[in-house]
Order: sequence, then C-alpha cells, then structure tokens
Amino acid sequence: MLRLRRYRVFVICAFVVLFLLYHVSRNSQWDSVEPNVYDKVARPHYTKPKTEDDVDADTPRPGGPPQRPPLGHHEQAVEPVPPKKEQDIKIPQLKTTSEVKGGYGLPKVVPTTTSAATKAQNTDKAPVADTFPTIKLPDRVDESKDQEAPIHVWKPPKKVEDLNTAAAAIHWKKPKEWFPVPKESIIPLPTGSPKPMPSVQHKFKEETKAQKEKRETRLAKVRAEAMRAWSGYKQFAWTHDELTPVTKHGKDPFCGWAATLVDSLDTLWIMGLKDEFDEAVKAVKEIDFTTTPYRSDIPIFETIIRYLGGLVGAYDVTGGHDGKYRVLLDKALELAEILMSVFDTPNRMPILYYNWQPEFNENPKRASTSVSVAEIGSMGMEFTRLAQLTGEDKYYDAIARITDALEELQNRKDGTALPGIFPQQLDASGCNRTAAAEATLQKQATDVSADSEEPEGYASTRYGSTQSSRTKSTGAKDLEFEVKPGSRPSEPGSGSFHGVSKRELDSAVEERADDATEATSDMQERDSLSERSPISAKGLPANWECVPQGLASGSWGMDSYSMGGSQDSAYEYFPKQYALLGGLEPKYRTMHEKTVAAVKKYLLFRPMAKGDPDILFSAKASSSDNTDKNLHYEWEITHLTCFLGGMFGLGGKLFDSPEDVEIGKRLTDGCVWAYEVMPTGIMPEFSMALPCQKVDDCHWNQTAWYEHLDPESAWRKTQLEEYNVKRAKWKEEVQKLKDEEERRLKAESAAKADTAAQKTSQGAGEEAHHHHSRRDLSGDGDDEKLIEEKVEKLESELDLNSQGGYQTRNEDVQKPVGEIYYPIEPVKPLTHEEFVEERIKRERLVPGFASLNDRRYILRPEAIESVWYMYRITGDPIWQEKGWRMFESIIKATQTEVGHSAIDDVTTAEEAMPTDSMESFWLAETLKYFYLLFTTPDVISLDEWVFNTEAHPFRRPTAAT
Ligand SMILES: *[C@@H]1O[C@H](CO)[C@@H](O)[C@H](O)[C@H]1NC(C)=O
Ligand SMILES: *[C@@H]1O[C@H](CO)[C@@H](O)[C@H](O)[C@H]1NC(C)=O
Repeated sequence: MLRLRRYRVFVICAFVVLFLLYHVSRNSQWDSVEPNVYDKVARPHYTKPKTEDDVDADTPRPGGPPQRPPLGHHEQAVEPVPPKKEQDIKIPQLKTTSEVKGGYGLPKVVPTTTSAATKAQNTDKAPVADTFPTIKLPDRVDESKDQEAPIHVWKPPKKVEDLNTAAAAIHWKKPKEWFPVPKESIIPLPTGSPKPMPSVQHKFKEETKAQKEKRETRLAKVRAEAMRAWSGYKQFAWTHDELTPVTKHGKDPFCGWAATLVDSLDTLWIMGLKDEFDEAVKAVKEIDFTTTPYRSDIPIFETIIRYLGGLVGAYDVTGGHDGKYRVLLDKALELAEILMSVFDTPNRMPILYYNWQPEFNENPKRASTSVSVAEIGSMGMEFTRLAQLTGEDKYYDAIARITDALEELQNRKDGTALPGIFPQQLDASGCNRTAAAEATLQKQATDVSADSEEPEGYASTRYGSTQSSRTKSTGAKDLEFEVKPGSRPSEPGSGSFHGVSKRELDSAVEERADDATEATSDMQERDSLSERSPISAKGLPANWECVPQGLASGSWGMDSYSMGGSQDSAYEYFPKQYALLGGLEPKYRTMHEKTVAAVKKYLLFRPMAKGDPDILFSAKASSSDNTDKNLHYEWEITHLTCFLGGMFGLGGKLFDSPEDVEIGKRLTDGCVWAYEVMPTGIMPEFSMALPCQKVDDCHWNQTAWYEHLDPESAWRKTQLEEYNVKRAKWKEEVQKLKDEEERRLKAESAAKADTAAQKTSQGAGEEAHHHHSRRDLSGDGDDEKLIEEKVEKLESELDLNSQGGYQTRNEDVQKPVGEIYYPIEPVKPLTHEEFVEERIKRERLVPGFASLNDRRYILRPEAIESVWYMYRITGDPIWQEKGWRMFESIIKATQTEVGHSAIDDVTTAEEAMPTDSMESFWLAETLKYFYLLFTTPDVISLDEWVFNTEAHPFRRPTAAT
C-alpha cells in the first residue's frame, strides 16, 4: 500500500506536469521551431556579413541554404523529406519475404549479339578482363570493425517560395578590382596545334537490324521520360530552378535563374527536341544574372557547373560560332563577368560563396580558410572553354592559377599525407596562420622587453579607457591599443579607432582566420572593425598583409582523402582538361597520373560480396598526423564516387593505360552491383562495405560478415552460457515446487478421502462462492476504491510497475487460493546468429553491406555516367544491358505524374516514399547519359567531346584542324 501511495503521488504530479507542458507548448512557438519547408517559408532576410574578406566563409548564409559543410559535386542537392500524408504513414515492417537473392545476379537478359565475346561476358560473373585479368593493389586491412559507421547528417536547403521584393531591386555592379593581374602576367591559353591522342571510343561495327530495333525502342523510352520531366517543369515550374515533382511547384535553391532550364538545354538539343529547345532559349534571354531575390550569396561551384557549363555546352552542341544561338554565349559571358570577381583576391584563389550585393562586393576579399577541393578545383573546364570561344586569356588565367596551386600542393613535401591527392578541406586564404601566430608570440616577447624603453612621444592607452595617458603602459598584457603620435586617441563607443596597432589588427585577423564561423557570427562587430581599420595607400586595410603561403590543409585535426563528395570533380577535371586543351598543357596529365597512382595505392578496395563479384570501390582514408602511417579507413560505397569508373576509363584511354581502363570497369561494375543487389534495383546514397584483404583472393564469408555486424559474439556466448546455468537452476526449482505441490495435494486428497464420509451432507462450491463475494466487495461504489482503481489503471498504462518486475504484477493479479508462485523463467538472450539475423531484417541489410547509412536515391547520374563511358570505351553491349536495368529500376521507383522524384529508401520497393525533389541534374545528366547509351555511338563521341562534371559536352580541339 505504501508503494501504491507513492505512485499515486507520482502519477498526480506527472499529470500536473503534463498538463502544464501542454499549455506551455500551445502558447509558445514550439510548433514553428522546425517550419515545414514545404509551407511558405519566411522570406530570406539579408543581413550584413561582418566584413568583406571572408564572404565565402562556410558560415550560415542569409537567405541561402542553411549552414553545411562545404560539399562537393551536387551535394547541395540534398532534399528534405516532404511531409507524408496522414494515411501514408506506415509502420516499418520487418521484411521477411523479399530477402535479396544473393550473388551477383547479372544478366537475365538475352544477349543482343551472337558474338562469342559477348556470350562470354554474359555469364553471371562480372566481365573478366581479356588483357589484364589481375590488378595489383596493396592489401587492405579492415580496422574499422569495431567502429560505428558514421551517420551522415544531411542539411536540407531552405525553400524560398516568395520574393523579397526589396532585395530584388538590388543589382550586382562590377566592383573595383583590388588585386588585378598585370597584363604581362596573365597566363595565356597554351598555343600550338593539338596533340594527337589515342581515341577514347571503341570502333563500333554496324549493328544488326534486331539490335537497332531494340536500341531504338529503349531510346524512345528514355526520351519519353525526359519529356515527362521537361513537361512537368514547363507546366509547373517554368523559369524556376526546380520542379517539385509531387506537389507540382517551383523552387529556387540556385538563385532562381532557372537552373533546370539552363541545365537541360543541351539535353533537349541532343534528344532532338528542337521546339522545346527554342522555347527555352527565349527564356534564357530573360534571365538576369545581376540579381537574385533568393540568396545573398552565389554558390560559385554550382553556378559554374550548372549555369555556365549549361550555357557553354548548349552553345557548343548547337554549332558554336557557326550555330544560330549566339545568345547562349552572350549569356555565358554575362554570367562570367560576374563570376570573375570572385578571383579578385590577393592570391587569386576564388571566393566560393559570393556576396554579390554591392554593399559587400566593393570591399577587398580573401578566399576562405576552409574550402572543399571539389569546389575550388572544378572550374577549369568551363572557363577554359570560354577562353577558347572568346580568345580572352583572362578566363584561362583565373583557373590556371588554381591548377598551379593544386600542382604545387600535390608536389610539396608534407603538403599532403597521401602524395598525389589532396586533403578534402583546404585553406585557400593564402595566409599562414601558424607563421602569424609565431610572429605574434615573438612580438609579444619583444614588447615586454621593449616596454621600458618606450620612445618619447608614443602614447599608450588601454582599450576602453577614456584617458589618453602619456605614462608608460603597465605591461604588455594590458596593452591592447597603441596610439601613435599624432593620431587620435581611441574613444569608447566612437566606432572609429584610427591608429590602432598592427598587433591588434593581427590578432583580429587571426581570430577571424582561426574561426571563421565565430568571426562572422557577429556581423555588427565585423563592420565596425572594418570601419576602424586604417586604410593603406592602396586603399586596403592596414592589417591586410599576412605571411603568404600556398594551398594548405584546411583542417587542424583529421584530414580526409577520398574520391567522394567534396573532392570528386577536382580529380575528374585533370584528364578532361588535358583533352579540352588538346594535350597542350602536360601538367594535367602528370596531375592525373599522380592522382591515379595514389588512388590505387591507398583507396581502392574489393568488397566482400556474395558470389565474389570482381568489383572495386574507393574508400575514404583519414590521417591525423599528415602522414600515411596511421590511416583510418571508411570502406564507403557512395553514389557520388561512382563517377570514378568513367574517370579511370577516360584517363586510361587518353594516356594509354589499359590497367586503368580495367580498373574503371571494375569500379563501374561495383556501382552496377550496388544497384542490382538492392530491392529497388537502385544503389543507396551512402553505405559501407567490408573490404577483402586481398584483391585477388576475395571470398564471401558469411561468418566474417556476421562478425562485422555483431562484434560481440564472444560476450553473447558467455551470456548464453550464464543463461543455461540459470535456466537449469530455475528448472530445478520449479520441479521442486511442483513436487512439493504434488505432495501437498496428495496429502490433502488423502485427508479429504478420510473425511469424505463424514462431510457428505455439506454442499460443494464454497470456494467459488467465496471468490465471487470478494469481487463484489471490491466492486462496491466506494469513492476511494474507485479512485484507487483509476490510479491503478493509469499506473499500468504508464507502465510504472514494469520497473518493479514481475513480482509486483503478479501481486495484483487475483490468483485462485492455493496456487503456487513459480520463479520467473530467465529470458533467453539472443545468440550471435539470432542477433545478426534480427539486425539484418530490421535494417534490411543486403549481404556485403556493413551498414546502409543514407538510403535515398536522389536521381543522381554518376553510376550511369560510368556505365556509359564503359560502353563507349569498350563497345561491349553488356553495358547497355546493365544501364537498361538501372533505367527501368529508377523509372519504376521515381516516376511521378509530372516528372520524377528522389526517394527516401532504396531498400524497400514497397515503402519507398518520394521526397518531392527533382534536381536539375536529372535532366542535365542522368537522362542524358541514359539517352546517349542508346543512341548510335557517333552522337557526342568522346573523341570529339569532353563533358564537364554536370554532363555538359564541350567540343574538343581535334588534331586534324
Ligand atoms: C607556415 O609557416 C610555418 C612556420 O613559419 C611553416 O613551418 C609552414 O611550412 C608554413 N606553411 C605553409 C603551408 O607554407
Ligand atoms: C571466415 O571468417 C571467419 C571470421 O573472421 C574466420 O575465422 C574464417 O576462417 C573465415 N573462413 C574462411 C573460409 O576464410
């Protein structure tokens, strides 16, 4: 009873608390803390950045997507999951039926050719190399076993629905150039006639009639899906950046310059959709790149690859100077004019998030201390092509300096832990913070010693003190401002501090550099700092100078190295730039070759998978000591990294390295495998595999997989042993009790038999009656009893008793008189196998996967991109079959009434939900690659064209001309 009373008090208190919470939540803004991004979102507000020189710092950008780590190729693409409708909410079920069939189930498709080679490859193994059957890679050790797979947190961009009309009136103005490149220093396009290069494409033979028919049927299907997406965009999102393919609206994450429209131009042209193309070009004319109501910063990387690349690619495919679409080049130049301002920094490294509004834009700028390799390294092709088309070397100069900086970093001793590739985050500021810190320390030391010898006429004043003292300072520690002769003493609150010391400014600069996020968080302070900065002769703040350095690691702790997001396209551009420049700039070749060597040495691994497919993936390695001695590996499988097969294939062809082509095949087959083993037939965005130690001796081992999924098998075993002991004891006890009971009953019945004769006259059923009356008693209308019953009921609902264990519950249950209480049976712990199987079921893990961290498919192109490269390079129609299966799976899972939508979970065909996003790369890249897989191979031949990272084809110079 005591316990019950205590609980009653508790329950009543809980009630009061809940009631209060409910009211508080009703009256507060709780429900608006996380606004539904699909509702109208508050208009973007334009807050002033603190100062000019870190406008691209990766801090929250007003009006733009929320803070996120600088990401690579298309990573901004990440979409929020739209609210699911009430009736759509499903409780995830444990999957029992569609266990993935193991193995590398390749073609169920009838080969289209009868050639022996094709037949040989159409077995259920990954295609085996004819020339390079084995690949030599270093052994891999999986030391990640006992580490939790990292969960990648995606931060969705904000949706901006309504215009900020006030901001719309602001236009970009060409700012004064602070750090112009002297004319004589401009790096010109390499000249000379293009070098002959090995052909990239396979020499295709005439196709048969049957082959042609099949190919054309598929081509038409791809085109029909492109039309579906384009029509949806046209009807519901015309001139917006993207269509929301479920809710049928437009949205504008990329400044609202009609990203899908510009990005799709060359796709429309290639697909022969001329009317659509012409209509789109008309709309392109109206785009005003000098303003955007949606963002205060321009995301430079995305703008270059999607918009600039889209315009240049469309100009090229329509015939370039000989074509009829001069407006496309004009628009590209309009945009380029704006973008060129981002290179106006002391070291000419670009600003990557460009505060374009004149108020900030007119100030001098410095590149960020933390940029991603992909973002800084993927501008080359677009500006190179522009330079070629216009003859303007300034465009080439802009990106040649980045290449030079990357090359210097690649070759610098201790520049990178994995020689050949770069740390993911780079400091592009050009200011050596280490050196600056050292200098400050030194200066402090000399200040202390020099203190007593302060020259006459120099005044020191303490920051914040009103008096301008001519007395000696009390010590270096307290000396925060020095006032030089003739300058005004500082006044608190005046906001103007002319004549502050270099040290004060230095430390301000350091602070800024040390923590850009913190530094920009208080914009007010920043503004006043720039105001009070003395201006040098050139008009620069006096604190502008710093100890110069080249590109350097941008993180103080772990540097990570991979071919995935944030790094990918920087490497992709090396061989492509080489091709685009007609082989006239050899550094792109050497940089590519160094990259490839490092990828082979450090990153490639063969995963352990059912059926032992001969496939490769590229891992992420991290170094905490800037050496390759203690690398930490993540055996990741990411969709973004799927471009790598194509890169190895293209580079392998251009630089005549058959081994690289072979690796390219296996990398591509890795992604094909990751598609085919998933229940939807689509690869997830991000997952983890198990590496095989040896690339040429790699066998599926279920025990090893289970061990990885549950490293606690030894502990589980002891648990089970303990359980067995406990259970044996329990059984014994129960038996003892049963025996006792039996004895008691026997004794009772013996006694009964004895007295039976004497008691025949008395009626039976007394016990039952007694029981009934007890119940009646408890059910009488006594108020206190009623309350007690209610409290009891509540208690059981709140499960308060559960902590008390079974005994408590048993007490409450009315038992027939005389029943014995048996001890509670011990609960059997899961065995290792049971635990793992439960986990596999719950997480829908597919054999070979260690974890499925991000199960979305967001219409990404990288896998089909590499499949297409493999088809064009090898001529093997098996790649068309692989691509077609991908296409059918993707369409099945993503098609909506008016387009196609990203989905939230590729591990369940039944429960995958659309996330209402159709990024511009769906039409620009994914559908283009699918289409080109089924055109005749002369359409956009890789010997005439080279694609930027957004699949925009640029014309290659040919050796003949
Ligand atoms: C920065 O300066 C330090 C110390 O002066 C030097 O050791 C280091 O190499 C410099 N870093 C770069 C990237 O130049
Ligand atoms: C499979 O993996 C287990 C656990 O790692 C290991 O003990 C066993 O030797 C492996 N079996 C084979 C055939 O390699």
